[in-house]
Amino acid sequence: MKRRAKISALGMYVPEQRMTNDDMAKIVDTSDQWIQERSGIKERRIIAKDQANSDLSVKAIENAFEGKDFHPEEIDLIVVATVTPDMMFPSTACIVQDKIGAKNAWSFDLSGACSGFLYAMATGAQFVQTGMCKKVLVIGTDVMSSILNFEDRTTCVLFGDGAGAILLEPTEEEDTGILDFMLHSDGAGGKFLYMPGGGSLHPASHETVDKKMHCVHQDGRNVFKSAVKLISEVSAKILERNGYSAEDVGLYVPHQANLRIIQSTLKRLNLRPEQVAINIDQYANTTAATIPIGLAEANQKGRISEGDLVLLASFGAGFTWGSVLLRWKKF
Ligand SMILES: CC(C)(COP(=O)(O)OP(=O)(O)OC[C@H]1O[C@@H](n2cnc3c(N)ncnc32)[C@H](O)[C@@H]1OP(=O)(O)O)[C@@H](O)C(=O)NCCC(=O)NCCS
Repeated sequence: MKRRAKISALGMYVPEQRMTNDDMAKIVDTSDQWIQERSGIKERRIIAKDQANSDLSVKAIENAFEGKDFHPEEIDLIVVATVTPDMMFPSTACIVQDKIGAKNAWSFDLSGACSGFLYAMATGAQFVQTGMCKKVLVIGTDVMSSILNFEDRTTCVLFGDGAGAILLEPTEEEDTGILDFMLHSDGAGGKFLYMPGGGSLHPASHETVDKKMHCVHQDGRNVFKSAVKLISEVSAKILERNGYSAEDVGLYVPHQANLRIIQSTLKRLNLRPEQVAINIDQYANTTAATIPIGLAEANQKGRISEGDLVLLASFGAGFTWGSVLLRWKKF
């Protein structure tokens, strides 16, 4: 009997403070119309001054276990996918471990940008499948507002803050849980989306701060084209490898970077709008958090039924991209 990893808890959290496109237009030369037409975004959430990434993660975990018995000491492993950790070290995963009292877990962060959550999910699933771990918390979380240049209208309007968390546990039921994953990277795409400052290449200095090197830099058109091509390809390939077609998909949860990227992908894959989770209008691009937030919202709204085929797909800095295929088990 093959052991697989299944999702047995799922939650999300976004900060309370809403920043609308009109709010954005007060600080940078843009408009609600431009942002909505070019990206589909209406508003995004911005973290409170006294909050950090780990606080969003903890709230997402609390949401995942709301109304359930939660025994943090039973968690074996915590993987946090993020590009905006609380600090360079210790890892946000260790900070989260301490905050929730998961004293028997080992914990680490993983940097996969917008594909971070799928990378972390695949990593956590390996430990469950081999029997090394029974309970793995996987968190996708980002505080993009901490690395945005609010003078650069081409990037600052696109991102927001948020977190999503899942618990992975073993299942021996046939055709249940994580069925397959397909993950890729192409480092040659690194120059199109990056944050150059603050690492060992350009350690933080007055100069790096003056030059806004601690902020997101992006060639939007190039990223857009690669995103559409690679996210469509990987989604189609994972379905084909498992003997499924677009019609079999109960819910498609793509990374939320731009509504036009999602719409082009749907066209290429022949997916109908009712098969897709879209919330970019409310939260913008929350990087590692878009997929678990999309999944959690869809689940809360009753959009996923027992036995549904759920397809997750991402694209992000690196370049990194990938897909995960699941057979849904209610919890
Ligand atoms: C960034 C993005 C929205 C720009 O949309 P676009 O249609 O490609 O727009 P362009 O870059 O061609 O810019 C068109 C014009 O709008 C202007 N513009 C850019 N941002 C603007 C803004 N926020 N408000 C108003 N005008 C803006 C540009 O300066 C340009 O003006 P010009 O023609 O006078 O030079 C789009 O390229 C995109 O979403 N790329 C992918 C980004 C992404 O998803 N990144 C994360 C991946 S995980």
